[in-house]
Amino acid sequence: MFDRIPTRRDLVGCRGEVLARRGFVVSAESIAEAAAAARPAPGRSLAETPVADDVAGALGDPSLRHLLRTAEVRAAVGRTLLSVRLPPEAWEEVLAQRGRDPVRHHHALATAAVTARLLAVGAGASRVVPEVAAAAMLHDFGMRHVSPRTGRAAQPLRAEDAREVAEHPFLGAWHLARLLGPHPAVEAALAHHWCKGQGYPDLARPPSRATEVVAVASAFAALTQDRSYRSDAFDPRGAVDVLVAEAGAGRFDPSTVKLLVHALRGGQGEARAVRFGRARHVQVPLVNHHAPISAPARSRL
Ligand SMILES: [Fe+2]
Ligand SMILES: [Fe+2]
Repeated sequence: MFDRIPTRRDLVGCRGEVLARRGFVVSAESIAEAAAAARPAPGRSLAETPVADDVAGALGDPSLRHLLRTAEVRAAVGRTLLSVRLPPEAWEEVLAQRGRDPVRHHHALATAAVTARLLAVGAGASRVVPEVAAAAMLHDFGMRHVSPRTGRAAQPLRAEDAREVAEHPFLGAWHLARLLGPHPAVEAALAHHWCKGQGYPDLARPPSRATEVVAVASAFAALTQDRSYRSDAFDPRGAVDVLVAEAGAGRFDPSTVKLLVHALRGGQGEARAVRFGRARHVQVPLVNHHAPISAPARSRL
């Protein structure tokens, strides 16, 4: 079982404070304990933070033009993102991460935008949406504890580097539990690479639908944006074909991938009516060195 990790180094917050010593065990139990012990300060909305300056740029990214095709849709998604509330300490971490890794910060906002749109199409406006958009924004939070060399290394990764990357769900979930207490972001961080049990880490039970939405949104955002390990980004059709194939292989929830296709087509009518077509000839990157991180067979404990 890959269900716990000993930390490789001290876990340090953005002010330099040690959060946990090297060797501390992160598991479902320690994540739950951190959430129970957390006393988050009252939240501030994203609109009140410097991250607000990044929202228009994220929504205007060409990779999202099909999903956010009208000014009205873009404005609605923008309102959801601006209403995301987090405690000041969490915003400090987000801003520190923005300075360290702008590409991942952009990925976080794009994933939140895609998630917000999918939720709006799937469920209409609901009070839970800003919380799930927050979860989407924070899903890769654990990458801040992965060494920058590994986080930006060319693909395919060496086995040891891949193992370190595979630890980011634990690190993100534990750190977010400490900052936010019980919050959908904790599960989204822990389970966004679960892939219906074919990914990592091993979980005692399947994650919520909200986390499935974040996982599909993160994959779509990553496929449609430039990455150092491939010559071009996928266009939305190419990205959808990848995700449909993944759903066919049992790695993604088919109904969530259908929701994405439905949203890309404008979101009118029923997502359930979407039928996956057969393989088409679509634009794919000429050069692509991406290799999926395979799930570690078991924990080192
Ligand atoms: Fe991730
Ligand atoms: Fe991601």
